[in-house]
Formats: sequence, C-alpha cells, structure tokens
Amino acid sequence: MSNSYNIAVIPGDGTGPEVVAEGIKVLDVAANKAGFKLNYNYYDYGGDQYLKTGEVLPDNAVEELKKNDAIYLGAIGHPDVKPGILEKGILLRLRFELDQYINLRPVKLYPGIDCPIKDKEPEHIDFVVVRENTEGLYAGAGGTLKKGTPDEVAIQESINTRKGVERCIRYAFEYCKKRNKDNKLTLCGKTNVLTFAFDLWERAFYETAREYPGITADYAHVDAITMWFVKNPEWFDVIVTDNMFGDIITDLGAMIQGGMGIAAGGNINPEGVSMFEPIGGSAPKYKGQNIINPLAAICAAGLMLEHLGEEKSGKEIEKAVMNVTAHDIKSLAAGQMGHSTTEVGDLVATYVTKL
Ligand code: IPM
Ligand code: MN
Repeated sequence: MSNSYNIAVIPGDGTGPEVVAEGIKVLDVAANKAGFKLNYNYYDYGGDQYLKTGEVLPDNAVEELKKNDAIYLGAIGHPDVKPGILEKGILLRLRFELDQYINLRPVKLYPGIDCPIKDKEPEHIDFVVVRENTEGLYAGAGGTLKKGTPDEVAIQESINTRKGVERCIRYAFEYCKKRNKDNKLTLCGKTNVLTFAFDLWERAFYETAREYPGITADYAHVDAITMWFVKNPEWFDVIVTDNMFGDIITDLGAMIQGGMGIAAGGNINPEGVSMFEPIGGSAPKYKGQNIINPLAAICAAGLMLEHLGEEKSGKEIEKAVMNVTAHDIKSLAAGQMGHSTTEVGDLVATYVTKL
C-alpha cells in the first residue's frame, strides 16, 4: 500500500502564495514519481485575514493543524500590520503550541551560486544549524516597570530548562550521527559571560556527548562563530545553539549560502507535527509579479519530505534545485533570475522527473 500524507498549507502573506504554489508543483511531481500521495488542506492564516477579522489565529487553529502530518508555510508578514503581531501571534505561537522544539537550518552553497566570500566553493560551505526553538529569550519572560517614564525598567529573561536544552542537544547528536559527514558537533554559546544559561548548556552538552563516542564534541563562542562562518566555514558540520543565537547566526548562514532566496528551514517536533518554511520574509514589494525566487520554498518542501520519511524524494528535490542553480538561473535575486517564478518551478519539476 502506498503512503499518503495530509499536509496543512499556509501560503500566508506577500509572495508566500506564489512560492508555495511552486513548492506544491514540485511536491506533486516527486510524489507521483515515487508513488506516494499528498493531500493538501489550505489555511488562510496571515496578515490579510487578520486585517479582515481582527483575529490573528482562530481558536481552533492548533487543533486543526494537528490533524495533519506536516505544515508547509509560505511567509508571514504584512506591511499594514504592526511588526510583532503576526510574528508572535502566528509563527511563534505555532512553534510553541506545537512544541516544535528544533529549528533545523541547513547552510549549503549550491553549485553555480555566487558566494559573497572569496574563494569559497560548495565543498567549503555545507553545515547544519540546530537551533533550540521554544525557550531562551523567545519565551516571553520579563516585563516592564514605569513604562514611558525616565525611570523605565525593561527586563527580558532567557529561559533555559534542563529538559528543553537536553532534548535539543540530543537531537543534534542524533542528527550529526545520521548525517555522518565529519561527525563533529559544535556547541555555540557564550560561556565566558552568560555563566548561568550556558553553564547549563555546557554541562548538558558534554554529559550527552559521552553517549556519542563517535562524534567530536566541540565548542565555540557565538561571536567567534560569526567570524569563522566568514573565514573558515568548512570547519563546521553540525552546530547546536539557543534560540536567539540560532536566529542570528542562521541569517549569516543564509548570506554565505547565497542569500534568503535559497535558505530553508524546518520547525520540528520529532514526536508531533512539524512545519517547513523558506526563511526569507513575505517580500511584499514583489508580490504578484511572478519574479520572486521560489527555490527556498522548494527546498523547504524537500526537507518536509525527508522528515516525513520520503528521504529519496526529498534528496531528489535538492538535486533538482542544484541542477537549476548550476545550469539555469543567473541570480537568486527577485527579478534577476533570467526566469519567472513559475518557470523556475517548472525547471525544478522537470529535473525531478528526469533524475
Ligand atoms: C526566523 C524569524 C523569526 C524568528 C521571527 C519572524 C519571529 O526571524 O524564523 O528566524 O526570530 O525566529
Ligand atoms: Mn530570523
């Protein structure tokens, strides 16, 4: 019997719907070829819906999404909505309520893509960041006092639980072992200053490392990591870090792999429902013009298939994208690809069929 999966699709705002449509085009070709079935359930969450109804997410949203095997998200963010409302009300709420405690972000330079770092080739840039996704500074702990007065106090605390930290570290060791590339896991922290939070991280890291004798456990401070991403990206295999540091270093990671047009990620609950997304924003100024680059969304679709257990198809999507970057497109930038959004989707789909 062939496998069948229910996919919740949240096209979202701006260019989200356009890139998601290309992702689905490619997913369908991959599914037909491999003989599994994908059923899509669409949800119109996002800025437009919020402006219409005043509701960021309906009360039953989480329960609805839980009926699916995975979530495929385009982009959230609307120029007419104050920053923070949609990000917190949709993206962060789903990460938290679905307990997607891992944010997985591969950083890989594909062939044919201009790397902003001199003399770096695809063999130099191929690592994965495992970012903790439910705690740290994102947990929302803290408050303000005497707001708007000269005596105002603002406190934003980083929450690090042994359970939350350890499950993330364990996931990273397992991922590194399965990936079997350099078998090296680097903890990215700040043990010289954040001596409470990263003391916990460091102990959990080295204690867990004992269970993985085949993996080299390595450590680097976050500031040094940003330096090495630029100077020696080839040093990294898998990196594990907290929510805030992970947010920052993965934007740098996206830039060294060519930009937001190619960077994809997964918000993963290994025991629950995971959500896959291109990590660039909603790019409202390019909306509706058929010029935005859909490759990041297509890569996110590939990650989703790998996660669902259709690893061969997921890898084929990645290979097809690599063919497009190597042979077909001039640039990753919107309007400069030498092809439209839909043409790039067609190209990837054709390679998937032929591979
Ligand atoms: C990301 C984004 C989000 C984050 C924002 C939109 C809340 O920057 O996915 O990295 O900070 O995690
Ligand atoms: Mn970010």
